[in-house]
Amino acid sequence: MSETENRPRNVDRNLALELVRVTEAAALAASSWVGKGDKNAADGAAVEAMRRAFDSVAIHGTVVIGEGEMDEAPMLYIGEKVGLYARSGTGMLADIAVDPLEGTTLTAKGGPNAMAVVALANRGGFLHAPDCYMDKIAIGPGYPQGIVDLDRSPGDNLAALAKAKGVSIGELTVCALDRDRHKDIIKACRAAGARLMLIPDGDVFGVVACAQPETGVDMYLGWGGAPEGVLAAAALRCTGGQMQGRLIFEEEAQVVRAKEMGIDDPKKKYEMDDLASGDVMFAATGVTTGPMLRGVRLIPGGAITHSIVMRSKSGTVRYVEAHHNFQVKPI
Ligand code: FBP
Repeated sequence: MSETENRPRNVDRNLALELVRVTEAAALAASSWVGKGDKNAADGAAVEAMRRAFDSVAIHGTVVIGEGEMDEAPMLYIGEKVGLYARSGTGMLADIAVDPLEGTTLTAKGGPNAMAVVALANRGGFLHAPDCYMDKIAIGPGYPQGIVDLDRSPGDNLAALAKAKGVSIGELTVCALDRDRHKDIIKACRAAGARLMLIPDGDVFGVVACAQPETGVDMYLGWGGAPEGVLAAAALRCTGGQMQGRLIFEEEAQVVRAKEMGIDDPKKKYEMDDLASGDVMFAATGVTTGPMLRGVRLIPGGAITHSIVMRSKSGTVRYVEAHHNFQVKPI
């Protein structure tokens, strides 16, 4: 019998709330390490809590974006089977993309926008992105397809977006990672008259923010992690919006690894649907507070978490505030 025979094929919509439990668990665990200067401990706590939480999710999942290769990551490594049905070989087959702690340094320093992130798709729904950079451009929903393009200059992209929005470029805000490698992008955006939100880390937020008006971000530009690019594309697929990405290879070994992961054209410009397709779900829980999510807040006997959860099939975006009672359910 083939692997997919006699299995549920459709994503159960209740899974979205199960995914929130997974990101809540990781965020709660990481929150004990906020500002304590130990990014590895924060990451380790998030990974362990997320891995445990996956055991009760009703799927037979395979991690395709994870913590690294099997020999370098003890948990949530690429290829690891997770979920309630992972051992029995039954249940819905799903591909899983995780970043248990997106923003390890942010957490260690108590900076903004650290979060626990998970996305789920049907088998084959995510690009198997290697651990390299991805050049990214993203905007929110509601604009004609193709009005911005990775191969156009920041000035041209800003002019096109401003025109489509009916505003001046000076009213647009571009989010980018605050890195030397982005000095030309930053210079070009400033020359065009745009405002900038330069973030120290955490570009999943930067991309997702384009589709969340309360963040004030209109466009994301620049290089960030390729795995983070896939996670962000999963979210944009749910909210609408446009994104393109191109892998950046700095060493030959990365090209070799990418080929092993099924990437034949190292220069390909990926569209959003190449990065995340099918029925996609995305969940993230804030570890530290930012414009989109509040971080974990401790209250007597428990904590409050703030999460976002979405599904491409329905297009619904939910913000979930959960009050956790540690006396009843310890973390
Ligand atoms: P960590 O969670 O590993 O700290 O990564 C955060 C991050 O800022 C990502 O959001 C981003 O994609 C990537 O690192 C950028 O990498 P670099 O720090 O090398 O510019």
